[in-house]
Amino acid sequence: MSTRDDALKFAYWVPNVSGGLVISNIGQRTSWTPEYNRKLAQIAEKAGFDYALSQIRFTAGYGADNQHESVSFSQDLLAHTEKLKVIAALLPGPWNPALAAKQIATINHLSNGRIAVNVVSGWFRGEFAAIGEHWLDHDERYRRSEEFIRALRGIWSEESFTFRGDFYRFNEYSLKPKPVNPQPEIFQGGSSRAARDMAARVSDWYFTNGNTPDGLRAQVEDIQTKAAANNHKVKIGINAFAIVRETEEEAKAVLQEIIDKANPEAVEGFAGQVKNAGKASPEGEGNWAKSTFEDLVQYNDGFRPNLIGTPRQVAERIVTLKEAGADLVLLGFLHFQEEVEYFGKHVLPLVREIEGARARETVVAG
Ligand SMILES: Cc1cc2nc3c(=O)[nH]c(=O)nc-3n(C[C@H](O)[C@H](O)[C@H](O)COP(=O)(O)O)c2cc1C
Repeated sequence: MSTRDDALKFAYWVPNVSGGLVISNIGQRTSWTPEYNRKLAQIAEKAGFDYALSQIRFTAGYGADNQHESVSFSQDLLAHTEKLKVIAALLPGPWNPALAAKQIATINHLSNGRIAVNVVSGWFRGEFAAIGEHWLDHDERYRRSEEFIRALRGIWSEESFTFRGDFYRFNEYSLKPKPVNPQPEIFQGGSSRAARDMAARVSDWYFTNGNTPDGLRAQVEDIQTKAAANNHKVKIGINAFAIVRETEEEAKAVLQEIIDKANPEAVEGFAGQVKNAGKASPEGEGNWAKSTFEDLVQYNDGFRPNLIGTPRQVAERIVTLKEAGADLVLLGFLHFQEEVEYFGKHVLPLVREIEGARARETVVAG
């Protein structure tokens, strides 16, 4: 397996929310329980995954009836693994940056630096209403998230942190102990103008919904041009739902079954929420602006990168995503434990082989 710094990284979605990663009544051998997730995390680190991403949801909706909290669940996964990094989701509003910085600094010590965070900005208006949180306009949500990220960084790195924002204020605040090396990495998600601009200013990692290589390339060019102008470095992660089977026909048949058994009311309800959240951005577009019904059967457009086929087809498409600018691929599966193991055995070695071969071709051509 490649150990080069630019080797593509892999993450999987932690199923800490019930119903799996597709809004479908197809049978899924996946569970949201702690027991299932501990074993999955152990399988994933052995299989060669670098990160696990846990989700934050406060209320039920669209097939996610039960949701374990992200930070505490991440801590449990860290306690049951040795190498895997776990990304905990934080939602500004319910989370205040002082508490979040303190909590994550402690988990950083408990886990020997393996905790990271995903600062999410909110798409689910009904959830905010249910927990009595103000629902800010789209770009205001990102202005708050950016202050939240600046506050986390400042608290983690500065001896005495003072900050005068519109949402948060700190006065000579000194957090002790500081996180041990490395500082927790800060991820964020989104596709809107505001999401991309925030990535180009403050985030370590930008997560985007599933997309074609061309769609990804356009986003990456936009972000990286701005990041360079800001003298900021940001890496890119893309979501995908993998269906890897011995034959392409089998893999495609599974996708068809997922879509045929989709729960139309739940998919339409989810579509209504997410499209409405994005429309409120000034450019009228968000993460899900172009998503079709079929795309939305997977919460984050995970069918679009087309990681559906044989191990070799999927490995080749993954390396094409890397060439379009991805540094990390975030994966969802139907039957998590067995498919993560299969992916590690049959797809990852091919990715490393193709990655190496294409890198050598580039050197020779150059
Ligand atoms: C990979 C990924 C993971 C996300 N995880 C969560 C999450 O756990 N909880 C949540 O409320 N939103 C989550 N989001 C939503 C984003 O933070 C953001 O609100 C959404 O993508 C809307 O983006 P937009 O500004 O492009 O419309 C996630 C988004 C992505 C791409």
